[in-house]
Amino acid sequence: MSDKPLLRIGLAGLGTVGATVAQQILAGAIDGVELGCVSAREPNKPRGFDISGLPFVADPLDMVADETIDVIVELIGGQDGPAYELVKASLQAGKPVVTANKALLAAHAAELSVLSSGQGGVPIALAYEAAVAGGIPVIKALREGLAGNQIGRLSGILNGTCNYILTRMEEAKLSFEDALDEAQAKGFAEADPTLDISGVDAAQKLSLLSALAFGLAPDYTKMPVAGIQAIAPQDIFFASQFDCVIRLVGVSERHQGAVYQRVTPMLVRRSNNLAQVRQELNAVMVRATPLGDLFLQGPGAGGGATASAVLADIADLALGFGRPLFTGPVSHMQTPLSQKAPEWEYYLRAGLADKPGSMAKATQILAENGVSIEEVIQRSSSDGGGFLPVVFITHEVDESSLNNALAALQQQDVCQGVLCLPIFAD
Ligand SMILES: NC(=O)c1ccc[n+]([C@@H]2O[C@H](COP(=O)([O-])OP(=O)(O)OC[C@H]3O[C@@H](n4cnc5c(N)ncnc54)[C@H](OP(=O)(O)O)[C@@H]3O)[C@@H](O)[C@H]2O)c1
Repeated sequence: MSDKPLLRIGLAGLGTVGATVAQQILAGAIDGVELGCVSAREPNKPRGFDISGLPFVADPLDMVADETIDVIVELIGGQDGPAYELVKASLQAGKPVVTANKALLAAHAAELSVLSSGQGGVPIALAYEAAVAGGIPVIKALREGLAGNQIGRLSGILNGTCNYILTRMEEAKLSFEDALDEAQAKGFAEADPTLDISGVDAAQKLSLLSALAFGLAPDYTKMPVAGIQAIAPQDIFFASQFDCVIRLVGVSERHQGAVYQRVTPMLVRRSNNLAQVRQELNAVMVRATPLGDLFLQGPGAGGGATASAVLADIADLALGFGRPLFTGPVSHMQTPLSQKAPEWEYYLRAGLADKPGSMAKATQILAENGVSIEEVIQRSSSDGGGFLPVVFITHEVDESSLNNALAALQQQDVCQGVLCLPIFAD
């Protein structure tokens, strides 16, 4: 250990992530950093390592008032409640914060951006590398490595649970339900997986990345979000027939002077880097000028990966580097949000009645609405209810034409169970 002044950490949360962070700091992982005190719900819970020498604080808010604590590390979790109270109080007191809590940041971005912008031009660090894509240093990449670039598109696989489920459906031919059960058994999905499989968790992360990449005010509630619950084994099969896989992708891109963002399952061509992202891994792909394309892949969750990012933020603070949530308050972000999707190709799967004229009717409706078809696959065996699955791959089409066609198809007796997924543009 050097004789540099110590940065003393107040660590709130000793769960999956907090316990790994604590062990690493106790092992001397970061020069000049020591644990000043810890907090958790249950003081006597076995943690698998020795914290008996550390002051245990029952109420984490007491760490803020403790003048011997330089930085608060919030690893409690939850959008509101004690995590929110702690982060807010710490910033109000001018004390830097490190957190992995994307739900909290996404929900309270406006308020926290003001608090961390500080008063009198002195920002207070609010570091959150661990909040997006776990161990992948994407926040630093956007803020530091890509500073000076203009970003055209940012896309990513931001939820390890969904990626695990989709990979297992593809590789082991599991149903969605069986893949989810397996993910839960292996600890890749929580007991209540709703936030993950609905796409909301990915949307929260994408909103933070879009704020950094494009200066777009983060509000994931304004983003179209679809989860993976509707993906059936037949979609995985059909995608493979077009040399594609299905991934839950968050995309944010400049479009007609604004930024369009969306989270949705997409068909991704096997030749694309995103298609190679398997199991619980995460990835982020950035298209920037003058850089070109950047692809980052790595573990997106778990104690080790997430602690790695938390420790990196702590190490920055120990060296005197710290930044507010964004470059300024969210209310100063000027980038317009586009509600209109770029023209994309789509995968369109429907059940068509097994009788003459069904296919002709479906193609007529698509044509009438300006949706032109690139490829069609029809299965010869019925689903047992008299409907044959058919898949259309469209040419690039604007979303309103597509939506009109989908609405018209859904009104037809000869058509049922329509699923529509965009195809990721390489
Ligand atoms: N786990 C991951 O893979 C992962 C990945 C990326 C980001 N994150 C984020 O990291 C954060 C922590 O996640 P985690 O998985 O480590 O959660 P966790 O395992 O549930 O741990 C939460 C910890 O917070 C403590 N806690 C709860 N209420 C408290 C209170 N009022 N005061 C003090 N401590 C309290 C708990 O105490 P007890 O132990 O005594 O119950 C526990 O130690 C979350 O924001 C999460 O979204 C996690």
